[in-house]
Amino acid sequence: MRALEDDLFPSTPGKVKIERAGGTMNRQLHRCFASTSTMFLWALFLVAMTASYLSFQSFVDTSSKYFAASWGGLHWERQIRASAAPRRPPGSAAGAGMSVLVTGASGFVGAHCSLALRKRGDGVVGIDNFNAYYDPSYVHSNVAGLVTLLEACKNADPQPAIVWASSSSVYGLNDKVPFSESHRTDQPASLYAATKKAGEEITHSYNHIYGLSITGLRFFTVYGPWGRPDMAYFSFTRNILQGKPITVYRGKNHVDLARDFTYIDDIVKGCLGSLDTAGRSTGTGGKKRGPAPYRIFNLGNTSPVTVPTLVAILEKHLRVKARKHVVEMPGNGDVPFTHANISLARQQLGYKPATNLDAGLKKFVKWYLSYYGYTRGSKNL
Ligand SMILES: *[C@@H]1O[C@H](CO)[C@@H](O)[C@H](O)[C@H]1NC(C)=O
Repeated sequence: MRALEDDLFPSTPGKVKIERAGGTMNRQLHRCFASTSTMFLWALFLVAMTASYLSFQSFVDTSSKYFAASWGGLHWERQIRASAAPRRPPGSAAGAGMSVLVTGASGFVGAHCSLALRKRGDGVVGIDNFNAYYDPSYVHSNVAGLVTLLEACKNADPQPAIVWASSSSVYGLNDKVPFSESHRTDQPASLYAATKKAGEEITHSYNHIYGLSITGLRFFTVYGPWGRPDMAYFSFTRNILQGKPITVYRGKNHVDLARDFTYIDDIVKGCLGSLDTAGRSTGTGGKKRGPAPYRIFNLGNTSPVTVPTLVAILEKHLRVKARKHVVEMPGNGDVPFTHANISLARQQLGYKPATNLDAGLKKFVKWYLSYYGYTRGSKNL
């Protein structure tokens, strides 16, 4: 059986495979942002190439039919350089702009962040291995992939600053609410959570040994247009439209499960705020020169919503009644609720979520219907 977390409410983004009218688009979502000023551009290229070497190998093998002709060569290089160069107006109040390497740039959060960065005039180099769906060994991308990237960053001169995605799932069995960054995170309830917790500790060691500037973001159930099809709100939408029953899990003693759903645009603001406030890495050529920032922030919405409420909001926007199949959650299941304390992010990043679940799902449903081409009364593809 797949981890319940995936079926119910993945607290964080992951890899997805989207089926659309016969076509298949693979997207990856494990990401990391490396930010530097313009002058660090070439260092970033090094990082990009090293970090993605293995990914590119499998990417070329599996996707050559579609993509081989579209990368490599002078034209491709020019496009990448143009994309990587910041284009803020000279003397702009927001500064000169950054060049940001976004890994998992075709995934949910990665794609939204890349677009937002370009929109405000920053440069973006996106890398993605376009792999098929979640690897049941997130261990590979969440641990080995992260270390590969950190190795490349620590050796770069100058070193970039790193903003990466951790997860609210690290709170695991913590039952103090709302979840604060200082609460214990040593009781993961899934392997996925354990790999994210490992990431927090691995990045800490790179910060300590090499002076890399690190910001880890604990995302709370991110949703919205272009989201992950395996998440509950997404599969509920599909099944409700198709007239299929949906499975609603309920916690012990008939307590409804709840999640602190966070709209993608709010998450993007938190990511960009992190990049803007990330202090510099201090090391050069693999040697630490002084202490560098190590930060962890919750990015949530601060208002948990129960599953029945989520379903009711979807029914309202879809104008279709759901066929609900309520099931007790097994004892080894995912955590019953999440609730973020976001004071730290508010104070240090200016993070202020602005979209409640009703407004966010309205936008999601609008996107879903236009993307999948559903017309009311017909079977949804
Ligand atoms: C939220 O976290 C801050 C520290 O970041 C803490 O001072 C505050 O008491 C917490 N709020 C609640 C309601 O737990």
